[in-house]
Amino acid sequence: MSEKHLFLRALDGETVERPPVWMMRQAGRYLPDFMKLKAKYDFFTRCQTPELATEITVMPIDQIGVDAAILFSDILVIPQALGVNVEMKPNVGPWIEKPIKTMADVANIQVPDVEEALDYVFEAIKMTKKELNNRVPLIGFAGAPWTILCYMVQGQGSKTFDKAKAFCFTQPKAAHLLLQKITDTTIAYLKKKVEVGVDAVQIFDSWGGLLSPSDYQTFSFQYIQQIINALKEETKVITFGKGTWFALDSMADSGTHALGVDWTVTPKLARELTKNKVTLQGNFDPVRLLSPIPDIQKMVKEMIDNFGKDRYVANLGHGILPNIPVDHAKAFVEAVKSYE
Ligand code: CP3
Repeated sequence: MSEKHLFLRALDGETVERPPVWMMRQAGRYLPDFMKLKAKYDFFTRCQTPELATEITVMPIDQIGVDAAILFSDILVIPQALGVNVEMKPNVGPWIEKPIKTMADVANIQVPDVEEALDYVFEAIKMTKKELNNRVPLIGFAGAPWTILCYMVQGQGSKTFDKAKAFCFTQPKAAHLLLQKITDTTIAYLKKKVEVGVDAVQIFDSWGGLLSPSDYQTFSFQYIQQIINALKEETKVITFGKGTWFALDSMADSGTHALGVDWTVTPKLARELTKNKVTLQGNFDPVRLLSPIPDIQKMVKEMIDNFGKDRYVANLGHGILPNIPVDHAKAFVEAVKSYE
């Protein structure tokens, strides 16, 4: 066995020389080599072809020098496995022709055998692990059930996800049944990912912050809690909620190893709310990567000073944007690596 990776040490709360660093959505979006593959193959072909998924996953390790890899895939493979037809439309994003509207629609949804429905993901993990050759750990991920419901009901991206929220508020029975089916599928999916080789998993609740604190507990967090309970003994679990700082105190007691935070919360407040019980991950404003490089370097140093170097994983507060210059992304990573 080789030495334990910095990223896994930080998730375990060990004292480290410097924080590990990776960037949400690092496997795709802004790298020129990724753009070339994107021009050649459509989105789900890239996800479903293990050779392509492996190549894209490894790119930021070789080119940017991050301390962890995240598998190239998407949270929307879960609705696909549940039998819903999801397309990725250029300039539109995710598109579902027949969104969920009624209890009858939910009743029709069958929890799949994930090994069969998502075998290409597990093949991609095995291939990526070989290619990484233990240089860095590999993160597997899934969407939080609430964020998945958002797309299944709204049918496409949205600023408010008003149809998804209205579905929960007017047909709570159907909403909870759907959330439970998504949760059961996600647990089986993540367990299988761990079995075939991922070193940690991250749950993305990108739209959790659209709910009020009490609705967040009812429609989102109780399902995330089930996922954490099912996974925490088998792997490291990182829970990221965009805009869910209001729930940090209860999330710190959930058994998750780390909590992702966005840039709307100060490191100090995040530490206070979580009482130093968990590792924190974040929270550089992704748009701040457009700032001049000396500003990025200065802000990264301040961010680490404020979180503290231990129990901390340096990251962005949400996914990297497609228009970030590669040398700015590198400067961000380098600034963390040279932290003293
Ligand atoms: O580092 C990585 O990029 C790993 C792979 C990854 C993708 N999606 C690839 C992708 C991950 C971790 C995701 C997660 C994801 N997908 C989330 C949660 C994280 C977040 O950013 O909030 C969400 C909400 C989705 C759903 C989704 N997929 C949207 C809204 C879109 C369209 C807009 C966009 O983000 O570009 C996608 C498409 C998608 N997923 C792309 C990539 C690289 C871009 C489309 C393409 O390459 O053709």
